[in-house]
Amino acid sequence: MKVVLFNGSRKDNGCTFTALDLVAKSLEFEGIETEILNIGRRVFNGEIEAVVKDASEKVKNADGFVFGSPVYWASPSGELVMFMDRLWAAGADFRFKPAASVSTCRRAGNTATLDVINKYFAYSAMPIVTSCYWNEVHGKTPEDVLKDEEGVQTMTMLGKNMAWILKSIEAGKKTVKQPEWVEKVMTSFIR
Ligand SMILES: Cc1cc2nc3c(=O)[nH]c(=O)nc-3n(C[C@H](O)[C@H](O)[C@H](O)COP(=O)(O)O)c2cc1C
Repeated sequence: MKVVLFNGSRKDNGCTFTALDLVAKSLEFEGIETEILNIGRRVFNGEIEAVVKDASEKVKNADGFVFGSPVYWASPSGELVMFMDRLWAAGADFRFKPAASVSTCRRAGNTATLDVINKYFAYSAMPIVTSCYWNEVHGKTPEDVLKDEEGVQTMTMLGKNMAWILKSIEAGKKTVKQPEWVEKVMTSFIR
């Protein structure tokens, strides 16, 4: 089983990466393969279509996902939002695969950021994975993040919970049928 973790920061090795790396290490400890993709820098550099194409391929072969973002103005980074908008519009098939959001900020805006990211999962019938606190760390530098003992614990627990959900879904496949997908009703209230 494999989890793909998307880093929505422009920094490949900043605080978001550090948080995602903690989740990845915890997943690996539980026997789950991981891959961290630094998408924020590529989106910032104007590679959005190529990033979405690459990610769509990764999504097909992954069983779970983590989307991480730094807080910019109490919201996810514009790079992550653009990436997720395009990825969902491109029809990437996330249905029934578990996902988690992760955010990092110096001081405030983490929960608002997590709320925005979680809305994509809720639209796509994805079980949302949580931890022992909201999935957040604090810091301006990776060193700060590693000093955030509660944040480190939260990321580690998130990895364990994701592994548990993945293993439960896998074990359940023998006896529990996945729901049939519905032909979606699309209404408009503008007449
Ligand atoms: C444009 C911009 C906006 C930011 N807005 C906030 C904010 O609203 N609240 C906050 O606490 N930190 C804010 N920060 C700080 C970052 O969220 C924080 O340092 C984060 O951990 C950086 O993650 P990174 O190293 O992965 O980029 C902002 C940083 C930037 C560059």
